[in-house]
Amino acid sequence: QAVRDETPEAINSLDDVGTGLKACRACPLWQPATQAVAGRGPNSASLMLVGEQPGDREDLEGKPFVGPAGQLLRQIMGEIGLAVDDVYITNAVKHFKFTPRGKRRIHQNPRAGEIDACRFWLQKEIELVKPKVIVALGASAIRGITGKSGSVSALRGAVHPLENGAKLIVTNHPSALLRMNNPAQRQSAQAAIADDLTRAAMAAG
Ligand code: URA
Repeated sequence: QAVRDETPEAINSLDDVGTGLKACRACPLWQPATQAVAGRGPNSASLMLVGEQPGDREDLEGKPFVGPAGQLLRQIMGEIGLAVDDVYITNAVKHFKFTPRGKRRIHQNPRAGEIDACRFWLQKEIELVKPKVIVALGASAIRGITGKSGSVSALRGAVHPLENGAKLIVTNHPSALLRMNNPAQRQSAQAAIADDLTRAAMAAG
């Protein structure tokens, strides 16, 4: 791992994760970003959702899933009766990766090496929260959680045991819905995410 100058000697709490992340230089994404965005939620949540990385809004506000994809995720959770406050929500990568275009900042997918550099933090969050069920929203989350590449289509629809005893459930990232122009296609993709989250919530008890 790279330089984490101000990192607490040991990471023993979610607060330590937040403090450590501020000083993380394990990959270059910290530099153009406004701030690192740690996960949020109860420190003993039985269900953890893992996204890809903060977006523009998340980078500015310092909270995960508060932008358009987050609103959609919260809407889906509301529809299936899953209380957002009961769930720990985080990302595979804790800094926003973007290219500037005029005044806008355009999201860039993180590379495998960036996800791997950030796994240290995701694994600490998993160790500390000890969720029963972890949902990967998209392929970056799959890599962050398992350390291996995997596709949503190959892993979706089954419950995968993880080494730490938790169960992994895989679904699409809600931002995929935002890119769909066909309403029927979007509706069925949204229903599929809702189904996956429902199974995850049931497995988490
Ligand atoms: N997309 C993500 O993957 N994470 C966020 O926090 C916001 C959007």
